[in-house]
Amino acid sequence: MSIKIAAFSGSLRKDSYTTKLVKAFQHLAPEGIAVEIVDISQLPLLNQDLETDLPQQVKDLHSSVENADAIILATPEYNRSYSPVLKNALDWGSRPQGQNKWDKKPVAVLGCTPYNLGAFGAVNHLRQVLVYLNMQPLQQPEFYLAGAAEKFDEQGNLTDEQTRKMITAVWTSFTELISKSNS
Ligand code: FNR
Repeated sequence: MSIKIAAFSGSLRKDSYTTKLVKAFQHLAPEGIAVEIVDISQLPLLNQDLETDLPQQVKDLHSSVENADAIILATPEYNRSYSPVLKNALDWGSRPQGQNKWDKKPVAVLGCTPYNLGAFGAVNHLRQVLVYLNMQPLQQPEFYLAGAAEKFDEQGNLTDEQTRKMITAVWTSFTELISKSNS
């Protein structure tokens, strides 16, 4: 088995908990699964005028998505919704019209916040968009990381055993979904 996953963090912040979470998923990936963390920090803001001559960063995003068997989207929560950098990447990946690169890709959605509610509002909004993009979201288990500031050490390594178990549970179900989707 050789599965390629393109993973996206919805935060550009240097010390982002969301990015640390994506790295924990990468670190705990089962044997045979390679996780590439895609840099979306250099994508221009979506502007349809740019579609006549797509910027290289957009072409690179398209290649990363096309070459992936599945997608991980991790989002912080901003005002009870998901992050604009993630929306920008999702929108660019769906363009030009009729060339939706996300089509039929299995996707796991991760919410992350230092506060209490696990970024539920962000995940809930994001899931609506993934349905329209015709992706295959992992339904269960859902993944919400609350209290993220207490879950990593100074080097950004995951230290929380309960979170590790949650990540392993997501990987088990996500791997099944990806295998079914590829068969
Ligand atoms: C936030 N934050 C936040 N947190 C939350 O749990 N629910 C929310 O609705 C919001 N709203 C919000 C709006 C804006 C504009 C900012 C900048 C922040 C706090 C947020 O969870 C916190 O800054 C995280 O650390 C951001 O994630 P990263 O960068 O650590 O991955």
